[in-house]
Amino acid sequence: MSNVKVMDHPLIKHKITMLRMESTGTNEFRKLVEEIAMLMGYEALSDLETKNIEIKTPIEETIQPVIDGRKPAVVPILRAGLGMVGGVLALIPNAKVGHIGMYRDEETHIPHSYYCKLPPFIEERLIIVVDPMLATGGSLIDAVDEIKRQGGKRIKCMCIIAAPEGVAAFTEKHPDVQLYIGSVDRCLNKDAYICPGLGDAGDRIFGTK
Ligand code: PRP
Ligand code: URA
Repeated sequence: MSNVKVMDHPLIKHKITMLRMESTGTNEFRKLVEEIAMLMGYEALSDLETKNIEIKTPIEETIQPVIDGRKPAVVPILRAGLGMVGGVLALIPNAKVGHIGMYRDEETHIPHSYYCKLPPFIEERLIIVVDPMLATGGSLIDAVDEIKRQGGKRIKCMCIIAAPEGVAAFTEKHPDVQLYIGSVDRCLNKDAYICPGLGDAGDRIFGTK
């Protein structure tokens, strides 16, 4: 579990509680997902590399740090991951955005991949994969498999709610990838939904149920 960081900030905890409530409507749900993604992103990006540059303040010349290296890539897992993109882009507006399309078969819970488009020079970028839900772990495992196949090396993942089963499966398959989680919940139910969870994240973000 050394590469897993569970968020401990009261603002994140409060917003996740609001997100879970059945009474939270689509508009509020979207806003909360984006805000939580921004707060988690602040933590996940705390080791961004910097370089020193010379600048001039109104007072004097000075050497000060700015972010260094290729622009990071934010990669949402469709659909629900799309809801987190704006929050991360609020922190790093010039980041590139890739997309990975995955859906879980309702009967088998096995993920199926239907789309993948990543920014060029992916091997040189910090990659932040976002998906609000880590249930069995199948979707995130397959998404990271694909990113690695395409050359991705420095990968971090952010999930708002995870099941212990998914965390265990993911860390076993990708021990080198840093995983940031808002809350680790109790367990999965027989339909592989997270308990207590928040229901179907994609449906709640896009109002499709
Ligand atoms: C949800 C969620 C994850 C996946 C997690 O997506 O956004 O991608 O399930 O489950 P897993 O860990 O068991 O793979 P879903 O397949 O419902 O697609 P959607 O986002 O299009 O609704
Ligand atoms: N996908 C979701 O959206 N919610 C869950 O609880 C599990 C998978």
